[in-house]
Amino acid sequence: MTSSPIARPVDPPPRLLMGPGPINADPRVLRAMSSQLVGQYDPWMTTTMSETSELYRGVFRTTNEQTFVVDGTSRAGIEAALVSLLEPGDSVLVPVFGRFGHLLTEIAERCGAKVHTIEVPWGEVFAPEVVEQAVRDVRPKVLAVVQGDTSTTMCQPLEDLGEICRRHDVLLYCDATASLGGNPFETDAWEVDVVTAGLQKCLGGPSGSAPITIGPRAVEVIEGRKHVEAGVREAGDVERGVRIASNYLDLAMVMDYWGPRRLNHHTEATTMLYGARECARILLEEGLDAAVARHRLHGGAMLAGVRGLGLEVFGDVAHKMTNVVAVHIPDGIDGDAARAAVLHDYGIEIGTSFGPLHGKVWRIGTMGHNARRDAVLTTLAALEQVLRAGGAPVTAGGGVGAALEVYAA
Ligand SMILES: Cc1ncc(COP(=O)(O)O)c(C=O)c1O
Repeated sequence: MTSSPIARPVDPPPRLLMGPGPINADPRVLRAMSSQLVGQYDPWMTTTMSETSELYRGVFRTTNEQTFVVDGTSRAGIEAALVSLLEPGDSVLVPVFGRFGHLLTEIAERCGAKVHTIEVPWGEVFAPEVVEQAVRDVRPKVLAVVQGDTSTTMCQPLEDLGEICRRHDVLLYCDATASLGGNPFETDAWEVDVVTAGLQKCLGGPSGSAPITIGPRAVEVIEGRKHVEAGVREAGDVERGVRIASNYLDLAMVMDYWGPRRLNHHTEATTMLYGARECARILLEEGLDAAVARHRLHGGAMLAGVRGLGLEVFGDVAHKMTNVVAVHIPDGIDGDAARAAVLHDYGIEIGTSFGPLHGKVWRIGTMGHNARRDAVLTTLAALEQVLRAGGAPVTAGGGVGAALEVYAA
């Protein structure tokens, strides 16, 4: 192989991505993303944008008109939601149960909001009464919560939070990046005002596009801060409220770009749009309930498999996301060296961990295109060999056997 990158096209090694995301993209998504570009205002393009909105209404289970994709990775969706809702001095409540609660906190602080947090130890979730008590104490404008926090694998129950927020006149924002498509999510039935996600987990695509849905109560707040950019302003565009601190992530302007007005803002990331559209199509073709059931089946097989290998599962398993499991790294095993061996010898990636869990647990995902029987069994077989080579006491065939029992049941 020549050393010059000029002579070498992109040619990644074959990998099975079984970490907490990103995962291998569905080949259909990759095919969609290799389609040719069209102009930003080509009727085919604007139709494709509208169709993408329609498809994501299905994914989010909502009738929200304002449903589209923010260009950028999942945290662009989070920032867009928070910077567009929160003015400096507004108060926000964040229940923190892992790394991504800390991320919401940090982003809200950067918006100039007064941020209040409640915390549980990593590996646990909040009871709704605890959240309600904090809502009563803080009286926030926004309750910002993660549904599935990949750092701990926990899935926060959301069913009651929307009703609690309505009763206390609070807006509910949820980051469903890691969970959407693989765990139940009901935007309208649960009365969630704003939800954001990403493609690289259960939706089976690459990172780079953040689906978002915004309900009427949140739209009103965002419209109340509308300041149209001078260069595209038209008669009747009055400036309202405190201007949103980001131009790129200004949802008032992005809504005008996606809406019937098609008012120029950024240049829609066409290739990502194709990918996002195909991700939603694949999910809806399968059926959301069937996709959740598939994640539950293969996540359950992986859970049984790691236990069959003698590994101890981290956290409150009753509240685990369907699509990822964290296991304690056995004594005497060097976690990074074992992950490197799984990658080098078997071409399989499993995940490391952050913060207090770093060096203590691995995270193994079964999501999107990789929530499949062959992917689960191959990963367990590889893990068994690497654990044995490292001197861990593993039952021969224990992981694959336990997973097969789940499949046979
Ligand atoms: C729950 C959650 N939120 C946000 C993010 C950030 O996503 P991105 O890296 O796409 O910006 C992740 C990524 O793992 C996540 O799991």
